[in-house]
Amino acid sequence: MVERRYGPCASHGFFLLRLLLAFLFFFSFIDVPPAAAAAATTTTQSPPLTDTQKSIMNDIASLVNSESASANTRWNAADNPCNWTGISCRNSSSFSAVTSISLSNFGLSDSSIFAHLCRLDTLQSLDLSRNSFTNLSAQFFANSSCSMKKGLLSLNLSTNQLANSLSDLSHHFPQLEVLDLSFNSFSSRSLSADLGSFPKLRSFNASTNKLSGDVPTSMVSSLAELVLSRNQLNGSIPPGLFKYENLTLLDLIQNNLTGVVPDNFTSLSKLETLLLSDNLLTGEIPASLSNVTTLTRFAANQNNLLGSIPPGVTKYVKMLDLSYNDISGNIPADLFFGMNLETIDLTSNNLEGYVDAKFSRSLYRLRLGTNKLSGEIPGTISNASNLAYLELDNNHLEGNIPLNLGGCKNLTLLNLASNRLQGQVPNEIGNLKNLVVLKLQMNNLSGSIPSTFSNFINLNALNLSYNSFSGSIPDGIMKLQNLSSMNLQANKIDGVIPNSISSLKILIELNLGNNLLTGSIPEMPASLSTALNLSHNLLSGNIPSNIGFLRELEILDLSYNNLSGQVPSSFVNLNSLTELVLAYNQLSGFLPTLPKHAAVNITGNPGLTNTNSNNMDTGSKKKRHTILIIIIALAGALIGLCLLAIIVTLSLSKKVYRIEDEQSPSEDGVAQITSGRLVTMNSIHASAIDFMKAMEAVSNYSNIFLKTRFCTYYKAVMPNGSTYSVKKLNWSDKIFQIGSQEKFGHEIEVLGKLSNSNVMVPLAYVLTEDNAYLLYEHVHKGTVFDFLHGAKSDILDWPSRYSIALGVAQGLTFLHGCTQPVLLLDLSTRTIHLKSVNEPQIGDIELYKIIDPSKSTGSLSTIAGTVGYIPPEYAYTMRLTMAGNVYSFGVILLELLTGKPSVSDGTELAKWALSLSGRPDQREQILDTRVSGTSIAVHSQMLSVLNIALSCVAFSPDARPKMRNVLRMLFNAK
Ligand SMILES: *[C@@H]1O[C@H](CO)[C@@H](O)[C@H](O)[C@H]1NC(C)=O
Ligand SMILES: *[C@@H]1O[C@H](CO)[C@@H](O)[C@H](O)[C@H]1NC(C)=O
Ligand SMILES: *[C@@H]1O[C@H](CO)[C@@H](O)[C@H](O)[C@H]1NC(C)=O
Repeated sequence: MVERRYGPCASHGFFLLRLLLAFLFFFSFIDVPPAAAAAATTTTQSPPLTDTQKSIMNDIASLVNSESASANTRWNAADNPCNWTGISCRNSSSFSAVTSISLSNFGLSDSSIFAHLCRLDTLQSLDLSRNSFTNLSAQFFANSSCSMKKGLLSLNLSTNQLANSLSDLSHHFPQLEVLDLSFNSFSSRSLSADLGSFPKLRSFNASTNKLSGDVPTSMVSSLAELVLSRNQLNGSIPPGLFKYENLTLLDLIQNNLTGVVPDNFTSLSKLETLLLSDNLLTGEIPASLSNVTTLTRFAANQNNLLGSIPPGVTKYVKMLDLSYNDISGNIPADLFFGMNLETIDLTSNNLEGYVDAKFSRSLYRLRLGTNKLSGEIPGTISNASNLAYLELDNNHLEGNIPLNLGGCKNLTLLNLASNRLQGQVPNEIGNLKNLVVLKLQMNNLSGSIPSTFSNFINLNALNLSYNSFSGSIPDGIMKLQNLSSMNLQANKIDGVIPNSISSLKILIELNLGNNLLTGSIPEMPASLSTALNLSHNLLSGNIPSNIGFLRELEILDLSYNNLSGQVPSSFVNLNSLTELVLAYNQLSGFLPTLPKHAAVNITGNPGLTNTNSNNMDTGSKKKRHTILIIIIALAGALIGLCLLAIIVTLSLSKKVYRIEDEQSPSEDGVAQITSGRLVTMNSIHASAIDFMKAMEAVSNYSNIFLKTRFCTYYKAVMPNGSTYSVKKLNWSDKIFQIGSQEKFGHEIEVLGKLSNSNVMVPLAYVLTEDNAYLLYEHVHKGTVFDFLHGAKSDILDWPSRYSIALGVAQGLTFLHGCTQPVLLLDLSTRTIHLKSVNEPQIGDIELYKIIDPSKSTGSLSTIAGTVGYIPPEYAYTMRLTMAGNVYSFGVILLELLTGKPSVSDGTELAKWALSLSGRPDQREQILDTRVSGTSIAVHSQMLSVLNIALSCVAFSPDARPKMRNVLRMLFNAK
C-alpha cells in the first residue's frame, strides 16, 4: 500500500506540486509594496524607461535571476521593468524612471549589484534587507561618483551579514532620511565622526550589531528615531542625546550602559517611546519624565534602578515597565491612575506598603509580583474594569480576597499566589468568566471551593494548592472543557473524586495529593501527560485499568492510599512513564512490565511483586506459570499496541499521503505547505536539501528516531544520498501559536546564522498549515539520556562525561553570549544530542524564540522544560531566564555525576543532592561509584565538578553563577 504512492504518476504529481509550492512561496515572501502594485495598474499607459535605465535594469535582472533562491522572484526581461516584482517607477511626460527597488529576501549575496544600482540616479528607496550580503562594495560606499546616492531617501540593509565599520558608510548621502542597518555585524570604529554625514537623517536603526563604545551623539540634530538596541554600547547615557529635540523614539535596550539616567527629559518634548531595558543603569527614575506629554511607552526593566517611583510618572504613559530593578518605597497614590494607562509591570522590586490607590479604567495589565507589598487587596480594584492580567503574587498581602475583585470582569489571569490571604474565596470570583489562569496557591485560604468556579469556561490552569480548602470538589469544575492543569494539592478536601473528571478532555496535569479524598479512583481523562498525583489521600478499591492507557503520562503517584487488588495489566501501555510511585497501599500480584527507565517505588505493599527487577524467583513452578501468562498477556498487549501504532501512523500521515499520491493535487491537499526556505549559507547543504524528500520522510512513522517534550525527529535521506534530521513542531499546539509565519522565518534565520559546534543550528525550514519542520545535519548517535540511563548499556566513563559537561557548557555559554541571547525553553539530557560519546550538541534552541508567551494560555512555567529540570522560581516569575538555564545545566551535571535520572523516587535530583551536600562525608554518596572508584584523580575531579553543579542548582537565581563562569570553573576542575 505504501509502495503504490511512488507509482508512475508520482513524478508528475511532484512536478505540479513544486509548481504550486513555487506559487505559494511567491505570495508568502514577496511583499509587493503598495506603490509597486499601483505602478503595475498604470504601466499599460505609462511611457517606457529610457534606454539607459532599461539597460541598467536588465543588468540588475541578470544578477537577480542568477542568484535568486527560488524561481518566483525571477524577473522577465521581456516585461517592462516597472512591472517587475519589487520595482516602482515615476512617470513623467516622455519617460518613466525607477524610483524604488525592493529586493528583500531575494537570496542575494553578490555585491557587484551595487555598481549597477549606483547608476540609477532617480532611485529614492532601496530595500536590500534579508539577503546574504557580506560586504558593501567600495564602488557604492567609498565612491562619490555613485550618482544614485545623491537622491536616495531611504536605505534598508537590515538582516544581512555586513561587517563593515560604519565609517565606510559615510559621505554623499545628502538626502538620506531613513537608514536601517539592523541585524548585521557592523562595528563602530570611529562611529561618532561618521554619522554626521547624513544631513537629513530622520530615522536611524542599528539594532543588533556589534557597536561598542559610547552612545553616538554626532547625528544631525533633526533626528527623530534612534534605535541602537542589542549592541555592546557602554558608558552612561550621554547628555548630548538631549539635543535631539525632535526625538520621538529612543531605543537602547540590551546594551551595557551604566550610570544614572539623566533627568533632562523636559528637553525631549516630542518623545513617545523610551526604551532602556536590560542595561546596567542605576540611580533613580528621572522625575522629568512626568513632564513629557507625548510619552506613551517607558521601559527600563532589568537594570539596577533604585529609589522610589516619582509621582506623576504615569500621567501620560500607556505602558510602563520597571520590573526587575531595586526600586523601593511605597507605590505613589497616582501611579495606577494615568488617563491613558494600559500596562504597568513592577515585578521583582522592593516595593512596600499598601496597594492603596485609585485605578484607571483603561488599565489592562498590572504586574506587582515579587515585592514586599502588605495590607489588603483594595476593593477599589474593581474600577479597573478593563483589567485582564493581575499579578500580586509573592508579596505579604493579607486579609480576605475582596468581593469587588469579581467586578474586574475582563480578567484572564489572576495570580495571588504566595501571600498571606485568608478566609473564604468569595463566590463573586466566579463572575470572572474570562479567566484562563487562576493561581491562589500558598495562602491560608479556607472554606470550600466556590461552586461558582464552574463558570470559568475558559479556564486553562487552576492552582489552589497549599491552602486550607475543605469540603468536596465541586462537580462543576470537572466540566471545565478548557482546563489543562489542575492542582489542588495539600488542602483538606474530602469526599470522592467526581466521575465527571473524565470529561476534562484536555487535562494534562492533575494533582490532588495530600487531601482527604475517599472512595475509588474514577476513570481519568485520556489526555493526562505530565503528571497524575493522587497520593496521600484515603482512596480505596482497585486501580482502574483506564490509567494504564495514559500513554503520554510521565509521572504517576498513587502512594499512601488504601488501594487494593492487582495493578492492571494495561500498565504495559505507559510508554512515557519516568516515575511510578505506588508505595504504601494494599496492592497485590505482579507489577506489569514497564518502560525500562521508569523509576518504580512499590514499598509498603506486602503482596506486590515487581517483575521488572532481576530478583524474581524462577525456581517456583507456580510463579513461572503466572509469569508465562503475564508474558502471553503482554505479547497480546504489544500486538494491540503495534496495531494501534499503525493506525496512528496512518492517520498521522494521511495528509501527506494525500499530497503525494494524487495525480492532480487538489487545492485542499497542497495548500497545507505554505513555505519553505534554506537558512544555511553552506552550499553543500543548500544543494543537498530537498524539501519534498523531507516531507516524504516525515510521512513515514518508521523514520522517527527521537521524541522530546515538544518535538519529534525524523531521519530523511536526500536524493544525493546524504542524511538529514527533520524536526517536527506541532503548529496547532497551543504553545506554538506564534504571531506570524514571517516572524517564525525571521527567528529561524537569525538562529541559522549561529555557528558553534556544540549547538544544533537549523539549516532550513518548511511550514505547513499544521506543522513547522526544521532541518539539521544528521549526526545523531543518541541523546545524553540514552547514554546515561538508556539502552546503550556500557557505562559512560568519566572522561566522556566530563567532555559532555564541557561541551554543553561551551554551547550554552555561546548561546547566552550572543548579541540576542538565546535562552532554552527545554534543556535536559533528552535535548542534548551526541555526535559521539564526547561531542554533545544542544538541540531545541528555537523553542523559546517561537513560543509566544502572550499567546500561550498557560503560564510559561507550566510549559517550560521537563520535570526535574525546571528551576523553582519559574513557578512564580513565568519568565525564562539565563539563571533558569544555569539551573537546568546544574541538573545535567548532577546526572553525569550520579548516573541518576533527574527525578527518581518522587524526588528531584537537584533537591536530593542539595540535601546531602551539607556534610562533606555525605557528598561521597552523591557520586556514581561505578565511575568515581576508578581512580583517585577521577574521584577528586568529580568532587570539584559536584561543587560547580551544586552552585548551579542554588535555590536563589541570584546565587547561581553565569554560564561563562561555570565554563571557566569546569575547565579549572581538570
Ligand atoms: C504588467 O503586468 C500585468 C499583470 O501582472 C499585465 O497584465 C500587464 O500587461 C503588464 N504590463 C506591461 C507593460 O508589461
Ligand atoms: C524640529 O522640528 C521642527 C518642526 O518640524 C523644526 O522647525 C525644527 O527645526 C526641528 N529641530 C531641529 C533641531 O532640527
Ligand atoms: C559589560 O560591563 C561589564 C561591567 O561593567 C563588563 O564586565 C562586561 O565585560 C561588559 N560587557 C560587554 C559586552 O561589554
